[in-house]
Amino acid sequence: MNKWEENKSLKPFNTFGFEAKARYFATPDSTEGIEETLETCRKNSIPVFILGGGSNVVFSKDFDGLVLCPRTDRISISRKCMESRTLVVSAGVVWDDFVRYTVENNLMGVENLSGIPGTVGAAPVQNIGAYGMEAKDSIYALFGIMIDDGQPFFMENRDCKFTYRSSIFKNELKWKAIITRVAFKLAKGRRFKIEREDLQEELRKYGTINLSSIRQSILNLRAAKLPDPGELGNAGSFFKNPVVEQAEADRLLELFPSMPVYSASTFDDKVKLSAGWMIENCSLKGYRENNIGVYDRQALVLVNYGGGTANELILFSRMVQDRVFEKFGVKIEPEVDIV
Ligand code: EPU
Repeated sequence: MNKWEENKSLKPFNTFGFEAKARYFATPDSTEGIEETLETCRKNSIPVFILGGGSNVVFSKDFDGLVLCPRTDRISISRKCMESRTLVVSAGVVWDDFVRYTVENNLMGVENLSGIPGTVGAAPVQNIGAYGMEAKDSIYALFGIMIDDGQPFFMENRDCKFTYRSSIFKNELKWKAIITRVAFKLAKGRRFKIEREDLQEELRKYGTINLSSIRQSILNLRAAKLPDPGELGNAGSFFKNPVVEQAEADRLLELFPSMPVYSASTFDDKVKLSAGWMIENCSLKGYRENNIGVYDRQALVLVNYGGGTANELILFSRMVQDRVFEKFGVKIEPEVDIV
């Protein structure tokens, strides 16, 4: 039986650094341990919340149940082909440790996702993405357990309903399943994804294009724009970029000709707008109310300067949403989970 802790402060377990308590807290380090923990919760009707690295969550109140934080940490090669490797990675592996492992082993497919905080088990939930790459592009399948009845499941990529910053685990299966292992299919090759201009410019400093220089360039770009949660509470992008019909983008482009518009690969007939640009154009970049603010180097990021509360952040985020809606008529939605 795993040791459960009681009345555990979640402050060190969310990158905003907000105070909230969990009635119970467990960190099983094996799949059996996870199964056992879930079974105890089922028998005693204890609600379960699955927590990864806490880098995409706002705890707005205490949680009267068990917070389960998987600490499983295996990376194993399950299949070797001439052109690819399939790796099975436990949910508790730190995402960036996994990315570093792939780069060191010359495996392509997640290098542009370097430096993203969080764990491997959380990556499919919101289909993490950056610099033209998304987790869904490399996820082959995943393994998990249903929380309600303890049934193990195996799900192929196409069943996960991945879209921009979303998946079945943010919708039908929200709070219903725990991902225990993720299988990634990674290529051995040299078809890098380096179309973005800022990435190309950064890469020029290295003189050579390989997985390590791409990883290092992405880490540099992130460090220049995104606050380090160790120094300033934040959860990366607080909002998603809105996905709208082309006609809506055309309407906005008439009014705001310099507004960036991107194709949204998973929504064929739609386009993605830049929420950061819209927030900045509401003169909110760097704006602060007490201890909560819009980060001054990337307007999509909200920060806790220390001492801020989740409720202050939620109110502040609604103000940002309202200002964007008043100016652009576009609703921006949080990317983070508010619990
Ligand atoms: N922009 C501004 N002002 C800002 C921020 C952005 O004008 O303050 C405009 C610029 O025109 C810029 C464009 O928005 O060219 C895109 O900005 P950026 O490349 O920084 O990307 P983003 O759309 O703001 C997304 C992801 C980030 C990811 C970057 C890089 C979402 C919600 N966010 O941000 O992901 O790192 O692209 O690919 O899609 C995260 O999810 O936590 C995250 C940091």
